[in-house]
Amino acid sequence: MVKVEKLDHYGRGITYIDDKITFLNNALPNEEVKYKITKSNNKFQEGKVTKIITKSKKRVEPPCPFYDICGGCSLQHLTYEKTLEFKKQKVQEILSRYAHINEKINIIKNPSPYQYRNKLSLKIKDGKIGFYEAKTHKIVEITKCLLAKEEINNFLKDLKYFELNNAEVTIRSNYNQELLIAIKTKDQITNCYKQLAKLHKIVGIIVNDKLAYGEDKFIDIVDHKLFQVSYNSFFQVNSLINQEIFQIIKKEIKKEKVVADLYCGVGTLAIVASDKAKQVYGIEIIPNAIKNALVNQKMNKVNNVNFCLGDAKDIIKKIKTKIDTIIIDPPRSGLSVEALNNILKIKPTDLIYISCDPMTLARDLNTLKQFYKITKLYIADMFSYTYHVESICILKLLN
Ligand SMILES: C[S@@+](CC[C@H](N)C(=O)[O-])C[C@H]1O[C@@H](n2cnc3c(N)ncnc32)[C@H](O)[C@@H]1O
Repeated sequence: MVKVEKLDHYGRGITYIDDKITFLNNALPNEEVKYKITKSNNKFQEGKVTKIITKSKKRVEPPCPFYDICGGCSLQHLTYEKTLEFKKQKVQEILSRYAHINEKINIIKNPSPYQYRNKLSLKIKDGKIGFYEAKTHKIVEITKCLLAKEEINNFLKDLKYFELNNAEVTIRSNYNQELLIAIKTKDQITNCYKQLAKLHKIVGIIVNDKLAYGEDKFIDIVDHKLFQVSYNSFFQVNSLINQEIFQIIKKEIKKEKVVADLYCGVGTLAIVASDKAKQVYGIEIIPNAIKNALVNQKMNKVNNVNFCLGDAKDIIKKIKTKIDTIIIDPPRSGLSVEALNNILKIKPTDLIYISCDPMTLARDLNTLKQFYKITKLYIADMFSYTYHVESICILKLLN
């Protein structure tokens, strides 16, 4: 039996067994637990709890029947409030340790901490449908994911009609419970598209990047704005939290300013910023996303945004107009050295940095803070009950 000291950044309990740091799944601080070691090397051990001897007051019964084996969630055994505390502490620790930043963090809660995901990616292996077990390629068969929206779960039971043995399936849904389904497989797929479309609101089915049925894109609505989204374009998985990010953009963009939205996806933040800005430049590397952005500009009757296809680090250098505000919403890898240097050559008065990885955020802020002051810091619970967290940092150029 061991006593758990604290949680690591993946939500695992940390303890020491024979002086070796040990990470235990499903263990909470101060709990005394029995355990089974699943991995051991010179530096650390991993294991799982077999019996809880002394239970934490923060523990709740995880509602998902697959929670113990599925690698998707890691915080369902905590109360929702405590998951937020964990995320706040995690971002605080990372920013303090790697960037010496100790700003106050404001929390944006998820109004629907279950059934929020508008996109679910599943594996089919040897006919079994599910997710990979944490850190393995073993399938955990599931019939439902509590994080996904209801219409996605309703569709899961009918995936069998495709008669697939091995495949990757991504299901997206929109504001109107319509579905866009993308399948990657080497199998011969059964053409059951029309039958399925009678049972579900299917807008399109894409097989191996080719349109098999309907359309390869659909329309979503967030905060009264319309967005066309192609099956392979990025779109935030949680529209309620995306709406909260829109409110921050609306507040932080000042009237008549020139804005660049780097890594703009289908143009969401650029279009929101265009309501107040004089001119907006949106930059994105995926061609389909830029095609969506151009349609989105028209659908939202916006005429002060220029969408540019290409690498943000290169395009930003080519903009001749003086840029006042840069919105930075990069992938998990954060800013490349070149992108960061090119932003610092422009030195806009305002930066809005949206990040889905606090480690790369801390790395980039450690450089940016030499020239910018952080005026506000938020974490938004975009990915409830997982250890992932979205951070939004507002920065002002130092005098
Ligand atoms: C986190 S998403 C943000 C999208 C958008 N801001 C939104 O809220 O929907 C990051 C986007 O950056 C794009 N991207 C990745 N690398 C890029 C690069 N080097 N230059 C421009 N865009 C890039 C991705 O395709 C993706 O659409």
